This record gives sequence, C-alpha cells and structure tokens, in this order.
Amino acid sequence: MAGIDDLRQIGERFDGEKARAADRSSLEELHARYLSRKSGLLTLEMQRLRELPADQRPAFGKLANRLKQRIESELAEREAALAGEERSAREETEALDVSLPGSRPRIGHRHPITLARRAIEDIFLAMGYTVEDGPEVETTYNNFDALNIGPEHPSRDESDTFYISDDIVLRTQTSPVQIRTMERQPPPIRIICPGRVFRRDELDATHSPMFHQIEGLVVDEGISFGDLKGTLDLLHRQFFGERTRTRLRPSYFPFTEPSAEVDVSCEFCESRGCRVCKHTGWIEMMGAGMVHPAVYDCVGYDTARYSGFAFGLGIDRYAMLKYGIDDIPLLFQNDMRFLSQF
Ligand code: PHE
Repeated sequence: MAGIDDLRQIGERFDGEKARAADRSSLEELHARYLSRKSGLLTLEMQRLRELPADQRPAFGKLANRLKQRIESELAEREAALAGEERSAREETEALDVSLPGSRPRIGHRHPITLARRAIEDIFLAMGYTVEDGPEVETTYNNFDALNIGPEHPSRDESDTFYISDDIVLRTQTSPVQIRTMERQPPPIRIICPGRVFRRDELDATHSPMFHQIEGLVVDEGISFGDLKGTLDLLHRQFFGERTRTRLRPSYFPFTEPSAEVDVSCEFCESRGCRVCKHTGWIEMMGAGMVHPAVYDCVGYDTARYSGFAFGLGIDRYAMLKYGIDDIPLLFQNDMRFLSQF
C-alpha cells in the first residue's frame, strides 16, 4: 500500500510544518508547497492514482481527498486565527481613547528679570521718562572716553572687559547710552535705558559675566542732587514697598560728581541686620551722581545752563531682592521648576 503510506507521510509532514508556521506568509508558502496546481506535494501524489492497481484506487482517492480538505481547512483556520491576533495587537498599540482630555501646552510666563525690568520701566514711564535702547557692542569712546574714564583706568583692563578689537568692546555698563542720547538731542532729557552688560567675571552665586542694568539720565535747567534722591526714593518705595528707605553714601565714578552709592533698607530684617544685608540693615543697589562737566564737554552741552543726574542699577539685583532669590545662576538656567514660581 505504497500510495496510502505516502499520503500518511505527507499528512505528518504537513502537521509538523503547520505547527512551525508563525505568520501568514508562511501559511501561504505551505499552501503552495502542498496544493499548488503544478508542483504541490499532494497534487503530485494524487496524480499517481492512475499508476495504482484498480482495487486500491477508491481507497487512495478517498484518503487523498480527505487530506486535501484537511490541509485546506486547517490552513484557513490558522490564517483566521493569526489575522485575529494581528488585529488585536494592532488595536492594542493604536488604541485611541477619544474621551481622554487633551494635553494642554504649557503656557509660558515672564522671567523674574523681565518682571523686574517692566516694573521699574513702568515707574519711570509714569514720571515722564522715555525708554531708550543702545547697542551691546560699543566703542571704547562711548563706553569709556566720553564718560571721563581715563586711558589708565583699571576697568579698561582686558581682564575686566571683553574686547572685540582695540576700540570695540562688549559694553561694560549701560552708561554709554547717556553719551549716545546727549549727542543726538539737546536737553531736556529724561530717559532710562535697560539692557545687557558684560564683564569678565566667572559665573557664581553673586557674579555673572552678563547681567542687566537700567541707566537713568535726567538733564535740564536746575536739576539738583535733591531731585536724584527724591527720584530714587520714589523708585524704591514703589518697587519694594512704601516702607523702604533709600540712603546715599559718598562714592566715586569718573562720570559723576558728586557720586553716590545708593542703598535700600533691608526688607528681610526691617533693617535690624541679617544675612542678606550682611548685618548692616542696608543693601547696596546702584551707583549714581550728578553728571560730570567733562561728560557735558564731550557732547557739547552748556555746563553753565544745564545740570543733571545719572544712575545705573542692576536689574538682576532688584529681581533677586524682590523675589528672594539668592543665587545668580538660577536666573540663567531656565529650569521650569524655578521659573514657574513667578
Ligand atoms: N555705570 C556705573 C556702573 O556700572 C553705574 C553708574 C551709572 C554710576 C550712572 C553713576 C551714574 O557701575
């Protein structure tokens, strides 16, 4: 019964291969291997029917047909099962729950330095000042010479100032905008100029190679030191609170005479003395003074007729004091955990 044994072998071989077929393309290959019209293993076997003795043909034919049907239906069943698995796997990964709430984009908000700058700008705008702008890359003439800063002054040193060339620097202060403004227009002048300034400092808790200043300049007939004091007093009461007091100490700047270092009373300890004010009750906030006649000479103003004051404050300091920030790098790291507090 060679024919029937062959059929049995084909059936067993099919069972083994079917068990190993893991995807739909291998099922297709199996279908072709056993049943293809020209070269299918079972197809070829069935063609041998004619070679068999007549009495064996009915049994062989019946078995062969049954095997053919079994292969066809088992392949179809396997195929349907695989298709189902693929579908549910796809549904798993592509599942879309349309009832889930959408993810909201994080809304940005203003940096504490911007908040402080705007608050200070608003105080001066209300007093009739205008806001001026000047370049961060500045001539040594505007940044030093015209401000009466002599050629040997230590602040010109390459260890303090970023030089672009012999006579071009990254401005070390916003004071050169005083020069630009006075060269452009005659008095009266009431301006503030916010901007970035650069000095060769290493970044640490209290220093940064880039920080923000606001320059102030008022020039008119009859401007006195008292006007300066009154203006800064108002700035500080509006910015920090009505109880804040302003103190001026004698100091020196080449471009102002007299010059003052300006302190505010320490909010943290109500001037009793604490770590923030280094136990003095006062915190140093800016430099200021009456514009030096040498500066007026540079810009061609009549020193007999006009007088004025100037000041330069560090915005970063104001922001840190107002918001209780004690570490400068925090201002520049853009860490959302820090920024979202303001
Ligand atoms: N430009 C000075 C500084 O950066 C501050 C200042 C400005 C002092 C205006 C007096 C008048 O230190």
